[in-house]
Amino acid sequence: MSHRLGMAMAAATLLAAPVHAADKALDYEFFKTRVEPVFLKKRPDHVRCYVCHSDSNSAFKLEKLAPGSTFWTEEQSRKNFQVVSHLVVPGNTDASLLLTRPLAPQAGGHAYHSGGRQFPSRDDPEWKILAQWVNGGR
Ligand code: HEC
Repeated sequence: MSHRLGMAMAAATLLAAPVHAADKALDYEFFKTRVEPVFLKKRPDHVRCYVCHSDSNSAFKLEKLAPGSTFWTEEQSRKNFQVVSHLVVPGNTDASLLLTRPLAPQAGGHAYHSGGRQFPSRDDPEWKILAQWVNGGR
């Protein structure tokens, strides 16, 4: 390969990378309107994610709702976004703790979660919302 061609290919790779990353970038609006409600929703036979994960000192720590509020403020949602973004790998649901921890082991989830098997399978509509967000949904 000529030196010049090598340079051209390296430049093309550099140019292509950010575009690809932007495709999978985590979207804040999607997070706020679709993902955060999943954390607040009561699933049959389960405690809401919010109940444990606003109290525990685990890596998944949600902001506390103000007394009487049913949803986070804009500022709180931004903080939640930061925290939760660290629990996922954009474009890779299998490498994302947020998706594997609460998923049943027989569906490929983690063997252990004190919060239980919140999602019995990958067809669960709410699990799909989380997956969509990780895959760049907006
Ligand atoms: C009954 C309490 C409880 C509920 C409800 C719960 N969790 Fe958890 N979760 C925990 C605890 C405690 C841990 C720490 C590790 C462990 O013991 O499994 C944890 C760990 C995690 C982790 C790994 C990161 C960390 O903080 O260690 C993720 C991600 C997670 N939970 C997601 C969820 C999601 C999403 C929901 C709701 C669909 C949920 N959890 C519901 C108690 C809970």
